[in-house]
Formats: sequence, structure tokens, C-alpha cells
Amino acid sequence: TFPKQVKIVEVGPRDGLQNEKNIVPTPVKIKLIDMLSETGLPVIEATSFVSPKWVPQMADHTEVLKGIKKFPGINYPVLTPNFKGFEAAVAAGAKEVSIFGAASELFTRKNINSSIEESFQRYDSIMKAAQAKGILVRGYVSCALGCPYEGKISPAKVAEVAKRMYSMGCYEISLGDTIGVGTPGAMRDMLTAVMHEVPLAALAVHCHDTYGQALANTLMALQMGVSVVDSSVAGLGGCPYARGASGNLATEDLVYMLSGLGIHMGVNLQKLLEAGDFICQALNRKTNSKVAQASCKL
Ligand code: HMG
Ligand code: MG
Repeated sequence: TFPKQVKIVEVGPRDGLQNEKNIVPTPVKIKLIDMLSETGLPVIEATSFVSPKWVPQMADHTEVLKGIKKFPGINYPVLTPNFKGFEAAVAAGAKEVSIFGAASELFTRKNINSSIEESFQRYDSIMKAAQAKGILVRGYVSCALGCPYEGKISPAKVAEVAKRMYSMGCYEISLGDTIGVGTPGAMRDMLTAVMHEVPLAALAVHCHDTYGQALANTLMALQMGVSVVDSSVAGLGGCPYARGASGNLATEDLVYMLSGLGIHMGVNLQKLLEAGDFICQALNRKTNSKVAQASCKL
């Protein structure tokens, strides 16, 4: 059964921009986030406190987090891969952070240069410090529907990693189809396994649209009762350590579908379209949102 209400986690300023080859000017990132804050979105992932040697595009994380207008009632989480990133994020004013693990050993190695086991040790130190400071921690499980290096990933492995993240204190677990290879059937099987280990209310889905399945996969998750969905304005996105992965589910398309289903999400589509237009013009590229493309013709 569908949830009555859905919380959208907008990941465009982070997932959407991290893969851009040309460095996006800091003021553009700040303006994008400020425009998104006007739309009614409850959560906007702002940036990543990762190593600039690994992801140069996110090197201005401190300036971005300090430069945006913080709207009351909106959370602006940031990615933190290790304790160094966590400390920098807190110093820049982060009130919520995300740790990011994966259900694949090889992806974990390529993405954060550790084994799954080592990643949990690193994240444990972040968790302890976050709890002491009253900072919320979200957990990502990448490769939930497939891995660019290992191929198929078993639902049992995803459930195991998700359970571990939840048990260590993550309040929400976002299941990432990092390379967008999943289908609704794979989503159903994976979620069925994960729902045995983690309460439904604590689960989010994070679909990339590489194979054009993101909206369908998200719909399957909604039907199964998931009520938190990650998406990216204009469908921007991709992971630098997952070659060929394309953008996230477009937030505009998600909002349009939720409206049609009568599911409340509190987002003003017109303002969202304006934010999408702004970032596409700044990046000099066409939107990946079908709804935005359709609106252009009206
Ligand atoms: P490493 O090379 O093993 O780390 O990388 P290190 O500790 O040896 O440090 C290397 C250098 O980076 C050092 O500098 C550190 O100081 C510096 P040097 O001494 O050589 O001058 N450094 C840092 N600088 C700033 N902030 C930091 C930081 N940490 C180290 N936090 C590390 C390990 C985890 C740092 C690296 O692998 C990394 O940053 N990885 C991040 C990769 C990434 O951002 N991937 C994309 C996000 S995940 C994703 O997109 C998936 C998701 O969307 C969900 C889905 O779709 O499935 C979330
Ligand atoms: Mg992603």
C-alpha cells in the first residue's frame, strides 16, 4: 500500500554535481540550493566533505555549506567519508551527515578505498562523535541493485549491510541503485529482504536512471510502503567511481507522479522547474527531467 505522504530528499547539489567535469562556481551551487529551499523540499543534500583529491568538484564544501541560506525546517545533510570529513563538516555548521557504505567489496574499495569491514570501523568513530553532539546520521547502501565491478549483488548482502548501518545508529537507510541497473522486480526482491531487517519507516530508495527504470523502481518501492525517496533536480547525477552511471531520478518527475497518486510531498513544481532551468543553463545542458522537457513546450 502507498504511503499517504512522502519525504523527498533532494540530492542534486551533491550527487548531481559531484560528477561534473568542469568545476561549477561556488555561487552557482549556493544559488541552486537557495532556489531549492524555496520549493518546499524538506531535505537538500548540500555537498560532500570528501577528499578533494578524489572528488575535486566538492572541494568548496565549506564555502557552500556556510554560504547557503538555512531555511527553518529544512535539513541540509552532507556526505562524510571519514572522521576528518566529519570534523570539517561540523566546523562548517553541519547538523546532519551521511555515511556511505556499499553492499559490494570492490565498489567500497574503488569509492572510499577500504573494505566493507574497515568502512564500518571508520563510520563507527563518526557515529560516536555525532551522537555525542546530537548530529543525525543517515546511511547509504550503494550497489543495492547491482555493482559496476561485481555485477549482481544478493538481496541478503544488501540486507546485512543495511541492518548493520541501522543497528549502529543511522536513523535512515538509503538504498542506492548506484548504476541504475535495477528493475521493479529486483527492487521488490531486494526490499523484501531488507524489510525483514530494518523498519520500513527508516528506509529510503535512491534510484539512478541509467536504464530508464528509476521512476518504475521508485513506484515499486512506494507500493511496498517506502515513504522516503531520493531524487535530483533536472535528473542530474552520477558517481565518479561508477563509470557509465547516469543521473538520479528527476525530482520534477517524482513530484509529478506523486501529485497524480494523491500522495502529499509539499513541493511546488513550478518553483522546482525554475531551479532545474537555472542549473541546466549554468551547466549548459539539457534537463534529464521529462516533466521539464514537456513543460518547455507548453
Ligand atoms: P584515501 O586516499 O585512502 O585517504 O581516500 P587518505 O586518508 O590516505 O587521504 C588522502 C588525502 O586526502 C590526504 O591528503 C588527506 O588529508 C585527504 P594529503 O595528505 O595527500 O595531502 N583527505 C581529505 N581531505 C578533505 N576531506 C576529507 C579527507 N579525507 C582525506 N574528508 C577517502 C579515502 C575516503 C578520503 C576517499 O576515498 C574519498 O574521499 N572518497 C569519496 C568518494 C566519493 O565522494 N564518491 C561519491 C559519493 S558516493 C555516491 O555517489 C553514491 C551515493 O549517491 C548512493 C548511490 O548512488 O548508491 C551516495
Ligand atoms: Mg547516487
